Amino acid sequence: MATRPLIAGNWKMNGTGAGIEELARLKTLLEEAGTVESDIVVCPPATLIHRAAQTVEGGPIRIGGQDCHSSVNGAHTGDISAAMLLDAGASHVILGHSERRADHGETDSIVRSKCEAALSGGLIPIVCVGETETERGEGNANQVVAEQLRGSLPEHFGNTPIVVAYEPIWAIGTGKTATPADIEEMHGHIRELLIERFGRSGEAARLLYGGSVKSDNAGTILSTPNVNGALVGGASLKANDFFSIIVAA
Ligand code: G3H
Repeated sequence: MATRPLIAGNWKMNGTGAGIEELARLKTLLEEAGTVESDIVVCPPATLIHRAAQTVEGGPIRIGGQDCHSSVNGAHTGDISAAMLLDAGASHVILGHSERRADHGETDSIVRSKCEAALSGGLIPIVCVGETETERGEGNANQVVAEQLRGSLPEHFGNTPIVVAYEPIWAIGTGKTATPADIEEMHGHIRELLIERFGRSGEAARLLYGGSVKSDNAGTILSTPNVNGALVGGASLKANDFFSIIVAA
């Protein structure tokens, strides 16, 4: 993998104070291991972002949010802006995760607006795409992902690096992973689309794979062509599990 890998952990709606202790343990494990060959981002729930940022200070772990609003501020009860995430200590934000698309009706155009807001607010967006099992079964996976990319990514990223996470929905939290051949094919397809649209920035974009990444399959997945990292859900909650994935990169 020529590009430095990015290993991102998405805690989803998990984590209270005990999560911060796991994060501190992860920081210690990384310090004990010495040089880290990957960029590492942990995305805890919004309530923990500030504490998480304080906990990882001085180490290689960076902190991300799991969503942000498309507006800068205003009457949006319960929502969080990019500026608030930045202020709390985040550098990244996951956008368009399939769980938000399903639970909150987020369309490609909403994801795109959020992405624009994140970029203006100084955050690095991690934009998620992926097909359902039915769409794959019907042979439409490439088309679905192309459509999501077209609609969800803004026209310009400026100097901000492009990060896309391919997460086949049927592989999330199920223990099923796409085969290395399927991952290679889809990531190659995404790479081509990004180069077509963004040129050299598309070539340099980091393409993460997500969906039941664990310590025992991380090595194979992360050595697949055009895979530049992983977006890890369940296995990012425990310091030891996430650390094993980081060292596999
Ligand atoms: O954002 C992370 C993905 O949804 C993957 O979750 O590793 O629990 O399958 P998972």
